[in-house]
Amino acid sequence: MEIKLVPTLNNMGWMIAQELDFYTEAFIHYALTANKSVLEVGAAYGVAAPRILQQGGRVIVNDLDGRHLETLYQHTPPHLQPNLQLLAGSCVDEIEVQDHSLSAILCGRVFHFFDTETIALCLARFARWLEPNGKIFIVADSIFHGMNEGLLADFLQRKAEGHPNPAKVSLANNPRLAAQANKDEILQAMPEYFNFIDIETMAKLFNQAGFLVEHASYFPAKYYYDVSLWDGREGVGLIGVKV
Ligand SMILES: C[S@@+](CC[C@H](N)C(=O)[O-])C[C@H]1O[C@@H](n2cnc3c(N)ncnc32)[C@H](O)[C@@H]1O
Repeated sequence: MEIKLVPTLNNMGWMIAQELDFYTEAFIHYALTANKSVLEVGAAYGVAAPRILQQGGRVIVNDLDGRHLETLYQHTPPHLQPNLQLLAGSCVDEIEVQDHSLSAILCGRVFHFFDTETIALCLARFARWLEPNGKIFIVADSIFHGMNEGLLADFLQRKAEGHPNPAKVSLANNPRLAAQANKDEILQAMPEYFNFIDIETMAKLFNQAGFLVEHASYFPAKYYYDVSLWDGREGVGLIGVKV
């Protein structure tokens, strides 16, 4: 079987290994023509970063766990290592980047681990780090992720009631996961709580942080195995422009 996902060392899920989504591709493309530095946040061992480096670009790479970044550095050909800057620590409250010093930020498949308040905090920091007209690229697990099948009606009700985190669910007794032979292994490898992302909520958070939404869609998460799939809208992505 083709290896689609690589486990993280800190039980924060998996890094996509093969199939890239439209938003990550768009970030790579943008990064290669950007005036200022670009940053990949929550990169694990690097998804966009190795591809940017291979095509002659420069990139700053962040992850909560510095061991992932060490691995990325070791796997980077020596002549490209000077183009790679590592930034270990939490994007929520640890790392710091100079104001207006970045042209673009990719944050891929991290926000579904955060509650709404934390996402808002991160977006405000990202906005501060970006130059005017700088771009943000977000990819996350959507409300149509396979493990949210059967829970969508509850989500819609909580959203209609104005719940601050309508899509936050525990995976501990998730019906889809419970049916998996290796459910304990899967649960062990990721945080218990997920906050599946919908476009309206994220667009509102973008606007509050000072971004206009340039592009947003649900898409088939081809980088996942069947346990995560549902109706072809398992992934969600947004591109925002700092106004
Ligand atoms: C599911 S993996 C995604 C990796 C990669 N971006 C991808 O799309 O495949 C989530 C990554 O986010 C990192 N992460 C989680 N919380 C973070 C935080 N507060 N700051 C920076 N990175 C974080 C984890 O260490 C992990 O490597």
